[in-house]
Amino acid sequence: MGKTTITMMLAYGFALYGNKKVLIIDLDAQASSSLCFLGAERWLKAKSDGRHAGDMFINAFGDDKNIDISNFIVKDGGDVYLSGTQTKPHIDVIPSSSELDDTERGMLYMMSNSKPTLEEVFFEIEQKVANIIRTAKGKYDVVLLDCPPGLSCAAWGGLRSADYAVIPYTPDPTAEDNIRSLMRNIALRDIEAKLCPLANRVTNSGSNQLVISAIEDEFGSLGLQIPSKQALVNANQYSEETLSPYMKFGPARVLIENLHEATLHWIQRVAASETVEKGEETSDYPQNSTYNEAYSDDYLDEQYDNSLESLHDLDEEPSYEYNG
Ligand SMILES: Nc1ncnc2c1ncn2[C@@H]1O[C@H](COP(=O)(O)OP(=O)(O)OP(=O)(O)O)[C@@H](O)[C@H]1O
Ligand SMILES: [Mg+2]
Repeated sequence: MGKTTITMMLAYGFALYGNKKVLIIDLDAQASSSLCFLGAERWLKAKSDGRHAGDMFINAFGDDKNIDISNFIVKDGGDVYLSGTQTKPHIDVIPSSSELDDTERGMLYMMSNSKPTLEEVFFEIEQKVANIIRTAKGKYDVVLLDCPPGLSCAAWGGLRSADYAVIPYTPDPTAEDNIRSLMRNIALRDIEAKLCPLANRVTNSGSNQLVISAIEDEFGSLGLQIPSKQALVNANQYSEETLSPYMKFGPARVLIENLHEATLHWIQRVAASETVEKGEETSDYPQNSTYNEAYSDDYLDEQYDNSLESLHDLDEEPSYEYNG
């Protein structure tokens, strides 16, 4: 749990602290991240203008590699200025709406007669969704997909298009089983995205840490945990007035910066290990001592300790009040 919250954190992390051009594609008919980045008024306007993921998938279905997705993008999302400026970071959004569910049914009807088995129908739809999403490549530095709770065709298509997938979970007693079955399901479908679980809504309870250790030992770690914090709940709410990062995130600022850093390191580690596997030159990701120190287990342990420390720091800032 926490897909929309982690999408929000990554979007602001990359855009504010990494200076990246970010596109968010909301693949969830609940439209939580659409509302988080556009607010109700802009979201309603986008919907009535046909700027949403459902319309995009239906329109592109016949020619999924040549679609101009700019027709479905809402520019200048978010409600935060870059630190110390009156300029907004580059965050665009392809919003979602309840129509996305109808779109999925529509895509199924359209494909149902063209393939002999249901499995092939699903695969074809997922490929088309993936192709449509891939057309955003090159136009943005980072494309973030906020997935729905169940594994819809849009979610599977999104996963097929992705290079990396962060899988947030609450470390409760069901988490290990849920993550294991999701990973197994993904492996069976020949999906190439690199996967990493991320513990979210972590409390100081010992049982939380046992669950996290079991999952991280088996499936890897980003090197940090996201604590349960009211400031993150507040930050999910869109403010009509554009805010400074301090006003918007309060004590959650440090978590957004840490998640951005940890995600970058993970991506670099994955790229470095692939380069080694292929036996290629390693000029982009140096294998010298600087590299080893930067991404060693010690470094990750330190990140992990820092995130636990910041968990305590955050508790010591009760004076913060959300103002949006
Ligand atoms: N680290 C956190 N601390 C406190 N509250 C959190 C945290 N992460 C998520 N929440 C809250 O938990 C609820 C669910 O989170 P979120 O909407 O991010 O999950 P989701 O996986 O997107 O859910 P859905 O499956 O409905 O799309 C929200 O009210 C959110 O504010
Ligand atoms: Mg959500």
